[in-house]
Parts: sequence; structure tokens; C-alpha cells
Amino acid sequence: MTNSLKETIEAVRKSFLAALDSFPSDHIEIETLKNNYFGRKGELAKLYAQMGSVAAKDRPDVGKAINALKEECSRLFEDEAKKYISSESTRDDVLDYTLPGEIQRLGSTHPISKTLKEIKDIFTSVGFHITYGPEIDDDYHNFTALNFPEHHPARDMQDTFFVQKDVVLRTHTSNVQIHLMESSQPPLRYIVPGRVYRNEAISFKSYCLFHQIEGIVVDKHISFGDLKGTLEYFVKRVFGSSVKMRFRPSFFPFTEPSAEVDIWDEKRGEWLEILGCGMVDPAVFENVGYDPNIWHGYAFGLGIERIAMLKYGISDIRLFFQNDKRFLDQF
Ligand code: DAH
Repeated sequence: MTNSLKETIEAVRKSFLAALDSFPSDHIEIETLKNNYFGRKGELAKLYAQMGSVAAKDRPDVGKAINALKEECSRLFEDEAKKYISSESTRDDVLDYTLPGEIQRLGSTHPISKTLKEIKDIFTSVGFHITYGPEIDDDYHNFTALNFPEHHPARDMQDTFFVQKDVVLRTHTSNVQIHLMESSQPPLRYIVPGRVYRNEAISFKSYCLFHQIEGIVVDKHISFGDLKGTLEYFVKRVFGSSVKMRFRPSFFPFTEPSAEVDIWDEKRGEWLEILGCGMVDPAVFENVGYDPNIWHGYAFGLGIERIAMLKYGISDIRLFFQNDKRFLDQF
């Protein structure tokens, strides 16, 4: 056998062993390696191609040597390939396209957002506009301008979180009545959704944070009949026309007369208060510079949690704030 061919065979063997030492960890690279040695134009094929120029007497030996090399290389390659395949099946970055897909679940709308949207739709359908106001406000807008006299016990109706002296987390959305009337001229017809805060003992029926929708209508000939008609219409749209509701006389410093609306809760067998309302007190109009001899108005404040609890049969207000998926998934 010629020396140079012998050396070439040995060189191919060495380079193949070196390639096996750093055996690739990727399908495509493995395929490339296989082609480089065993393919039609691979190293082994090149060795066979040189057979033509080998002296006839040496051919059997050369043939044997190349065959032996091919056999050895194939065996070693197969062993490495097997190792690769078995390691691959335990690697978690490999995609199995035959597995069923994972269902990406969409979130659901929070029952408070759902109720809020429904209430907004009802009021906007009968001509109300929507506006918003500050959650942190001064004592004046949250109390004084709404005709809560200083040191008057009516302030204790709502346990207040103070941010600093004279600055509070609003205890109701009624503060926005004042902002609205200070910045615009009558007539007006608005609802004001928002969060309100009360420093109350937490229980199944009260939480330190909840949602209200304030309503305010100011015009020249507004009567208690308009208030009653609007709220009756609203309640029937939310709870259906067979709902049992009642207006009950009440007191709020900023309305005169004042009332509360209760809904009959079939499940509990009792009346549940859902809103306060009344005719805007002339003192409030004076505080915002409206002439009470010209302008009349009604206002109301709805508790959104209360309405959602009745609507969906939820018995604990805290569920709205816990973000328990098992609860939220039901909506
Ligand atoms: N702000 C009152 C509360 O949170 C609810 C309320 C009562 C709002 C009468 C009103 C109203 O606008 O006229 O308890």
C-alpha cells in the first residue's frame, strides 16, 4: 500500500475521532457530520475514489483498510447518535409537536366591573354623562360643602381615613357633586363612578374600600317624582320588572328630603339597602354658587358591591377583593 494513502486513511480516522469527541447536540449539525464522512462526497467516498490510482497489487489491502475504517467510523457514529437520541428524550427544551396544545385561558371580567358597566349603560341610555373626581380630597369637598357642619355628628356616619388634617380618602363619591357644580353651569345630568374608603370594621357586609356611583341632575323643574321615576326605571332594568323595591325616608345633610332604596333579597328574606338619594339641599347649591330659587336637583349614591351581591347571590363582600380565581372564574 502506498504510504501517502495510508497516511490519508489515518488522517481521516483521526479527524473523525476528533469530531466524535465534540459530538454535536443538535439534529442539523449531526446530519452535517454524517454527510461530511459518509455522504456521497464525504471523506470516505474520497478515499474510495483514490482506489483507481492504487497499484493493482496493493488494491486488496487498501480496500480492506478503507472498509475497516468505514466500519469503525459507522459503529462509533451510531453509538454517539444513540446516546444523543436518548438524552434528547429527557431534555425539556425539545418540542414535541405531536402533543396537544396548551389552552391559553382568557381572564374573565371582574363582577364589579361587569356590574359597573351595566349600570353605566343604563344611565347613559337615558341621557346621563359620565365624569370622575379625586379619591383623595379636602375636608371641604367631602364634608363641609355637602352641608356637614363642622363637629356635627353626621360626620360620624362615615368613618374616615385621614391622609392629613383636612385631607381625607373620600368616604363617598358625593365630593364630585361639588367639584362638578363648581366647574360647570347648570343644567347638568351626570353619573360619577369611583372607589370610596371607610375606616370600618371589616366583615361579610363591610370593607374598607368599595365602589359607588353618584348621580346628580340639576335643572329648572326637577321634582322628587323625577328622582323616583329614574331610580325605579334603573332598578327594574338591573333586577327585572318583578323586583320588590321600596323608598324609605332617611337623612343625608346634602339632600332634603332624603330617602334610601331597599331591594327585597329573596335569598336572605330581608330588605337590603342599595342606595341613598334625595333632593339637593339648597345649602349645597349656595355653596357652589347656584341660585336655589332657580335651580332644583336630585342626587343619589349607589353601592356597586351591594348591587352585585344581590344580582349574583354573593354573600360576602370580601370576595370581591381577594382575587380568588375560583370565585372570579364564575363570572
Ligand atoms: N353619599 C351617601 C353615602 O355614601 C349616599 C348618597 C345619599 C348620595 C344621598 C347622594 C344622595 O347623592 O343624594 O352614604
